[in-house]
Amino acid sequence: MIQDEIRKLKEEQGAVILAHNYQIPEVQEIADFVGDSLELAIKAKEATADVLVFCGVEFMAETAKILNPSRKVLLPVKNAGCPLADCLTPEMVREAKARHPNAAVVLYVNSTIESKAEADITCTSANAVEVVESLAEKTVLFGPDANLAHYVAEQVSGKTIIPLPADGHCPVHREYTLADVEAAHARGDAVVCHPECDPEVQEASDLVASTGGMARQAHLHQNWTVLTEEGMAYRLGRLFPDRTFHAVEGVVCEDMKRTTLEDVRRALETGEYEVTIDEEIADRARKAIERMIALRG
Ligand code: 13P
Ligand code: SF4
Repeated sequence: MIQDEIRKLKEEQGAVILAHNYQIPEVQEIADFVGDSLELAIKAKEATADVLVFCGVEFMAETAKILNPSRKVLLPVKNAGCPLADCLTPEMVREAKARHPNAAVVLYVNSTIESKAEADITCTSANAVEVVESLAEKTVLFGPDANLAHYVAEQVSGKTIIPLPADGHCPVHREYTLADVEAAHARGDAVVCHPECDPEVQEASDLVASTGGMARQAHLHQNWTVLTEEGMAYRLGRLFPDRTFHAVEGVVCEDMKRTTLEDVRRALETGEYEVTIDEEIADRARKAIERMIALRG
């Protein structure tokens, strides 16, 4: 069985497998740890294994390498990107800083390493409010997700949040509509959505949470409709087998779904694809990421 081969290779290589909540079920099942982007970054930072096989998308594997540069970090597929991360360039951040010299720059980890190098601090959807509240600056340039920026602006007071760019968004989460929330409510489900969803979807939902936050709060209701990539409904079903979790069929992140068990086996066999980072850029990005991680406890 391929799972046995992976376990054997893992042992031989001194490797651990980290997987995001959106990965396909088979990959979630073989992983040593499954979590949201903040939990995975912390796990990667603390990892003592020689090799980290990161089943997720590029910016997550890059963050793992930045936080634990002496480990070999492998992304089993080459083309697992994130269109949200790609919609913000470092030039756009520099231009915005020039226009708002007194503003702090908060970048969602769903951004490129080059953009992170321009940030004062990063955030994930699990800690975005806490990160913004921790800042002394009253004006915050927040990117690249405008819906997460809206969510943060609703939660914090006394700050001006400027989305950067004005309409940065995740194409997957934009697919959810008010009609999905209404259909879920009509069948008696509670609705949880990710803060990358449009504001009207957030406002109509019963709970807005990161994927890790969903796992922590799923005990609150018996029947849920989960408005985030469909892998999360599988994850929640594994964590809470006595509850039901409906996904909206067909809303998938193609990039998250690229990694298969065959890719994981090949990564362990061949050492491909190793994540490499530019030291100078990584040092600057690391400051922003470490500042975020230092906020917890
Ligand atoms: P989480 O940090 O909530 O896991 O989200 C990551 C992501 O890519 C959402 O689309
Ligand atoms: Fe990027 Fe959206 Fe996929 Fe998350 S779901 S990795 S934000 S494209």
